[in-house]
Amino acid sequence: MTRSTFLFLATTLISLLPLISAQTCNSTSLCPASAPCCSEYGYCGSGSYCLGGCEPLYSFKSTSCRPNPICQSQQTYFTDLSKVQMNGTKYDGNATAYDWVVNTGTLVPSPAGDGVRLTLKESDQGTKISSTRYIHYGSIDFVLESSKWNGVVTAAITMSDVKDEIDWEFPGSTTNKVQTNYWFLGVANYSATQGASSDISSDSSSNFLTYTFDWQEDYLNWMIDGQVVRTVLKSDTLSADGSQYKYPSTPSRVQLSIWPAGISSSAQGTIDWAGGMIDWSDPDYVANGYFWNTLQSIKISCANENDQTSTTTGWSYQGNDTAGIPIVDVTNASTLLSKGDISNIPLPTSAISALTGTLIVIFLSGLAVL
Ligand SMILES: *[C@@H]1O[C@H](CO)[C@@H](O)[C@H](O)[C@H]1NC(C)=O
Ligand SMILES: *[C@@H]1O[C@H](CO)[C@@H](O)[C@H](O)[C@H]1NC(C)=O
Ligand SMILES: *[C@@H]1O[C@H](CO)[C@@H](O)[C@H](O)[C@H]1NC(C)=O
Ligand SMILES: *[C@@H]1O[C@H](CO)[C@@H](O)[C@H](O)[C@H]1NC(C)=O
Ligand SMILES: *[C@@H]1O[C@H](CO)[C@@H](O)[C@H](O)[C@H]1NC(C)=O
Ligand SMILES: *[C@@H]1O[C@H](CO)[C@@H](O)[C@H](O)[C@H]1NC(C)=O
Repeated sequence: MTRSTFLFLATTLISLLPLISAQTCNSTSLCPASAPCCSEYGYCGSGSYCLGGCEPLYSFKSTSCRPNPICQSQQTYFTDLSKVQMNGTKYDGNATAYDWVVNTGTLVPSPAGDGVRLTLKESDQGTKISSTRYIHYGSIDFVLESSKWNGVVTAAITMSDVKDEIDWEFPGSTTNKVQTNYWFLGVANYSATQGASSDISSDSSSNFLTYTFDWQEDYLNWMIDGQVVRTVLKSDTLSADGSQYKYPSTPSRVQLSIWPAGISSSAQGTIDWAGGMIDWSDPDYVANGYFWNTLQSIKISCANENDQTSTTTGWSYQGNDTAGIPIVDVTNASTLLSKGDISNIPLPTSAISALTGTLIVIFLSGLAVL
């Protein structure tokens, strides 16, 4: 065996270790006390696994996850990246120090100086940024230019740790339409979400438009430049047996991403939805070395601040109510990891790539069965 072969094998083995040792978690298999937190990717661990996205109901205890940092109304212009932690694995849970973290991928200042580009390269899984704080009702305004290439998807969403989700999705090169979806505990009501597509009056990839979620306890509006394009009433989401409102109701992070749907590892339905396979010889890609969307600003206006006191730090989960809906309460416990607890096994890349596309794939396979 040559030295380089040995080094290659050794490095490969080391990089596989996390995969071998990481225990998975789900609704029937909770994390053990030794690795108490179920990360958003479905692996047990400590440290960063206990921060943003930590799934409370699959963790050792629902309070194993650090609390969701409480909402603070704020507006970020992404020409200034001083409150963006560019390396997500360095984030320690201090939401005062950073408003945003880059979970995967790379940000590049927009050459026009009007914001920041989230990039997608053939060698990565695209880019995702998340707010460090959570919003529990309120409104979110994204000002952005979408991506415009077949197979490339831009998503502006809210996502809770129990997978309540509200979406704007810009699939492929269809820049005169945007899709809206919502999810309740990771499940979409296909009859309610199917075909929810809205027209955009100008090209979404070359105009900064404002995409708003007006997310309140009783209703949810999607708006483009202040015009309501879709409304969902909570009262319309009552399950057929009357036991549950299938309505997003848990504190959520605000996220923006660009991800590759048109690649061979995607389901055919996902590829078709996104306008086909990505052309990595596209002149835009060749000239820049990446595909992109451009984010100018995000404004977060919090609702639901009545139950907070000056010592409130966040929200934490207290199990389920009798209808199976997670119970969330305010807490004054620290949102920070303890010193020395920040390092952790890195997330397996396969897990990251699986996540960015997961819900869409479920959505599409659900449609396929209809
Ligand atoms: C949960 O995880 C366990 C252990 O990995 C696995 O055996 C089981 O099939 C999983 N259950 C579900 C519903 O995914
Ligand atoms: C991010 O931070 C981690 C932990 O400090 C470090 O190992 C890694 O090299 C950093 N990544 C980049 C791209 O700087
Ligand atoms: C959190 O960050 C802020 C701003 O950088 C800093 O003043 C504060 O000391 C940090 N808190 C902790 C507990 O590290
Ligand atoms: C799905 O949504 C539709 C329309 O909002 C509603 O009539 C139906 O009861 C819902 N189905 C389920 C299973 O929640
Ligand atoms: C909470 O309820 C959901 C259904 O809404 C169920 O899937 C989950 O297993 C329950 N979790 C706990 C810890 O009871
Ligand atoms: C935090 O909340 C607990 C329980 O409500 C209370 O006992 C404690 O005094 C609070 N701590 C602070 C610093 O307010």
